[in-house]
Amino acid sequence: MAEARQTQRSATGWLGFEGRGVLVIGAGGLGAASARALAEAGARLTVVDADEARLEALRKDPACAGADVTTLTADLTSSEECERVVTTTARELGGLDVLVHAVGMNDRRPVVDTPDEVWERILTLNLSSAFWIGRAAGRLMREAGHGSMVYFSSVSSLLAHRHHGPYAASKGGLDQLVKVMAREWAADGVTVNAVAPGYTETELTRAYLARPGMREEMTALVPAGRLGQPEDVVGAVLFLASARASYVTGQVLYIDGGRTLV
Ligand SMILES: NC(=O)c1ccc[n+]([C@@H]2O[C@H](COP(=O)([O-])OP(=O)(O)OC[C@H]3O[C@@H](n4cnc5c(N)ncnc54)[C@H](O)[C@@H]3O)[C@@H](O)[C@H]2O)c1
Repeated sequence: MAEARQTQRSATGWLGFEGRGVLVIGAGGLGAASARALAEAGARLTVVDADEARLEALRKDPACAGADVTTLTADLTSSEECERVVTTTARELGGLDVLVHAVGMNDRRPVVDTPDEVWERILTLNLSSAFWIGRAAGRLMREAGHGSMVYFSSVSSLLAHRHHGPYAASKGGLDQLVKVMAREWAADGVTVNAVAPGYTETELTRAYLARPGMREEMTALVPAGRLGQPEDVVGAVLFLASARASYVTGQVLYIDGGRTLV
C-alpha cells in the first residue's frame, strides 16, 4: 500500500501538493473523491462535513489512512460556523493553500410547488456557504499572497433543467460569485475556479437515477454515452487547485461527457 501511494505521489508530484494545507468542504461522492486524490498527491488535508459517518468512511479509506488527513464535523448553514471552520483549519494546518468547496443539495419540484423553506435551504447550503467559506479563506489567502479555490458548480448553471429552480439559481449565482472573487483577488496571487459536472453517480443523484427509466433517459443526453463517476472530476480539481494553474482564474470547466454541447 505504501508503495502504491508512493507511485501515485510521484505521478502527481509535478502538481506540487506535497505538504500543502488543503481544506475540503464536503465528504460526499465528489468531495471524498477530491480528498482522496489530494491525499494521494501528498497534501495535508482537513475535510469537513455535517455527516460524521461520511467523514469516518473517508478516514478509513486506504487513500487517506496513511496520509495527513483530519476531519471536522460542522453544519455549514451559518456564517459563524463557516468562519469557525476556516479559522480552525488554517490554524491547525499552519495556513491555507487550497480550498475545495463540494457541498450541495437539490430538491426537484416545479417552481410553483417550491415552498420558501426549500428555496432557502438550497440557496443557503449551495450558495451562502460558498460565499461565507470563500470570504473567510480569501482574507487569509490574500494576506499570504497565494492560494487557490475550486468550487463545484453544475451543468444546471447553464441549462434550464425542469424542476431545478433553486438548484439552478444557486449554481448560476455561484458561477458569478466565482468570477467576481477571481477578479478581486487575482492581483493577490489567489485563483478561484469552478468545475461543473454533469450527472454523476453519488448520493445526490442516487434516488433520482433509481426511478424507472431515468438512468437510460439521463444517459441518452450525454454524447459520451455514460453518466459521470466521482473519479471523472478529480483530474480537473487537482489541476485547478495546483500551482500549475496559477494563471487560470474565474473559469467554469464543464465535466459532462459533452452534455452541454447538445
Ligand atoms: N453528483 C452530481 O451529479 C453533481 C453534478 C453537478 C454538481 N454537483 C455538485 O457537486 C457538489 C458535491 O455533490 P456530491 O454529488 O458529492 O453530493 P453528495 O450528496 O454525495 O455530498 C454532499 C455532501 O454535503 C454534505 N452536507 C449536506 N448538508 C450539509 C451541511 N449543512 N453542512 C455540511 N455538510 C453538509 C453531505 O453530508 C454530503 O456528504 C455539490 O455542490 C453538487 O451540487 C454534483
